[in-house]
Amino acid sequence: MVINENVDRKVIPVASGKGGVGKTVLAANLALALAESGKHTVLVDLDLGGSNLHTCLGLKNINPGVGNFLSGAELDFCDIIVETPYRRLRFIPGDVLVTGLAAINNPQKKRIAKQLLKIDADFIILDLGSGTSTAVLDFFLVSNSGIVVTTPQPTAVTNAFGFLKNLVFRFLQRALSSHQEVKRYITSLNKEHLPHSTPTVSQALSRIEEIDADSAKKARLYVTMIHPKLAINLAQSPGDLDAGLKLRDLVRKNLDIELDCMGLIYDDAAVEASVTEREPVLRFEPDAVASIQIKRIAEKIVKEPRFPLTSGDREGYGDSFELAHTEAKEDFKGRPDGSPGIVPSDIENLLQVITEQKKRINELQGTVRMLTLKDI
Ligand SMILES: Nc1ncnc2c1ncn2[C@@H]1O[C@H](COP(=O)(O)OP(=O)(O)O)[C@@H](O)[C@H]1O
Ligand SMILES: [Mg+2]
Repeated sequence: MVINENVDRKVIPVASGKGGVGKTVLAANLALALAESGKHTVLVDLDLGGSNLHTCLGLKNINPGVGNFLSGAELDFCDIIVETPYRRLRFIPGDVLVTGLAAINNPQKKRIAKQLLKIDADFIILDLGSGTSTAVLDFFLVSNSGIVVTTPQPTAVTNAFGFLKNLVFRFLQRALSSHQEVKRYITSLNKEHLPHSTPTVSQALSRIEEIDADSAKKARLYVTMIHPKLAINLAQSPGDLDAGLKLRDLVRKNLDIELDCMGLIYDDAAVEASVTEREPVLRFEPDAVASIQIKRIAEKIVKEPRFPLTSGDREGYGDSFELAHTEAKEDFKGRPDGSPGIVPSDIENLLQVITEQKKRINELQGTVRMLTLKDI
């Protein structure tokens, strides 16, 4: 299985190192935004063991899905695809009806990949499980257009880096499996679980070069095929883009790949409310800041005919992170409460604290003066 670069039928997997960062919310709403922009889109719940995408779409859990497909029934994905209430958006359920498939094997993964690539649609969005199991990595590697979601928190960023590191080494392991010694070397790296013990990609490539120059040449080419995209969710302010910049630098230094930023999505009460109401936030509150930000990500995808490759021409902005920063600053102004960071009540609290501290300082100064006078 090699990364698929099909431009007519784009598969966009959505993954993350850490759970609960908003993959399902993003996958559902991004798919809807693509459908609303005129693109035939299919949303696939591939979070096997944790399927809940149907709830985000307001669908009942009654349809057979990937679980049934895997459990031996003579089904094709075209048999389990269902319509949604949203025009041009169809859905393939996960394994809520047939569970216990978390440990999926290689032939099963291949069957799924084959079916995914056969779906007739402009975009196929995959909602994946959290973490770096080989099943998640392999589903992500079905395409070169995957999006990694993180929150600005350091643990989520560290896990996102872990995901990308495992992704690169998993890709190399699969792509270079024909040379036994190279394969053994990469497998040994994938088994290494100690933090900071894995070499950088360029160190690994040098070692592969020593084993077999031809494999190293291929590996260098393969690494250039990986173009993961980043979305920073549950952000509080434009400054949260710094977390993405740190991740980009870490990835550049250690993994020899470039991480592009699709955009920042603010922590928005409308999202939580929409999840409770079992409706995509795009429909629940189309003007909510998170809806606008997700629609913008969809627009960037649609506008880039060779997505995930970028034209490099970003209307005068240096790179995808700078553009995301400019957008995030604009969105920050447009928030209903003025900003999600310092809100008026915070300023009042701060002034109160300062006034109290001033009072306390005056009292202390008085005491010091009195004690000094006594000494005299
Ligand atoms: N931008 C956001 N603003 C507010 N809450 C959010 C946002 N994105 C996600 N959430 C909340 O986080 C919860 C977990 O999101 P989910 O998409 O299920 O995460 P994951 O699929 O990564 O495990 C959601 O139920 C929602 O309430
Ligand atoms: Mg999820």
